[in-house]
Amino acid sequence: MGSTVVVLQGDLTAARTDVIVNAANEHLVHGGGVAAALARVGGEEFVKDSERWVSEHGPVRPGQAAITSGGGLPARWVVHVVGPRYREGQDNETLLRQAVRAALDAAKELGATTVAMPAISTGVFGYPLDPAASVIVTESLRWAEAHPAILSQIRLVAYDDRTADALRLALERQE
Ligand code: APR
Repeated sequence: MGSTVVVLQGDLTAARTDVIVNAANEHLVHGGGVAAALARVGGEEFVKDSERWVSEHGPVRPGQAAITSGGGLPARWVVHVVGPRYREGQDNETLLRQAVRAALDAAKELGATTVAMPAISTGVFGYPLDPAASVIVTESLRWAEAHPAILSQIRLVAYDDRTADALRLALERQE
């Protein structure tokens, strides 16, 4: 039984999965968006773990995942990845694919069976929603195909209707 990719609408801070993926910046300073929500619920331990990670490893590079404890979050681990700050003149799609892959690879290394991931880069980082949804869905499906029976479920968690619709549509197009 391979991993399934599902779209859920809800608050990522309530995801009862082994791993929650954070749409972070390279400094793991969780100032806004889903990162700030995760830090609010994750609390002191989560924030300290993030600071410690950067002091030990330096800024999170594209395609790299930083792993911290979940702190007050229901998930045991948080995997932080940095999506592209959308702009012309760079390969935004490849950078987003790398972030999705890094997150799922890290979850696999941790021995997770369930992962919850937000719509990386579609908020503060300005990635247009529909193209981003297509990239995140296709990359998750491709990863699941390449790693049968590793993760039982990859949950793409959208906070708002518009994001949920875009992810659902992208998933339906693949079925
Ligand atoms: N649960 C689920 N999704 C959420 C939540 C939440 N509680 N809060 C926000 N989101 C959604 C946004 O609606 C968007 O669809 O997460 C998606 C990603 O948006 P951002 O959090 O803004 O992430 P991103 O665009 O990758 O920008 C990252 O923003 O928060 C800062 O520290 C972060 O500098 C980094 C940058």
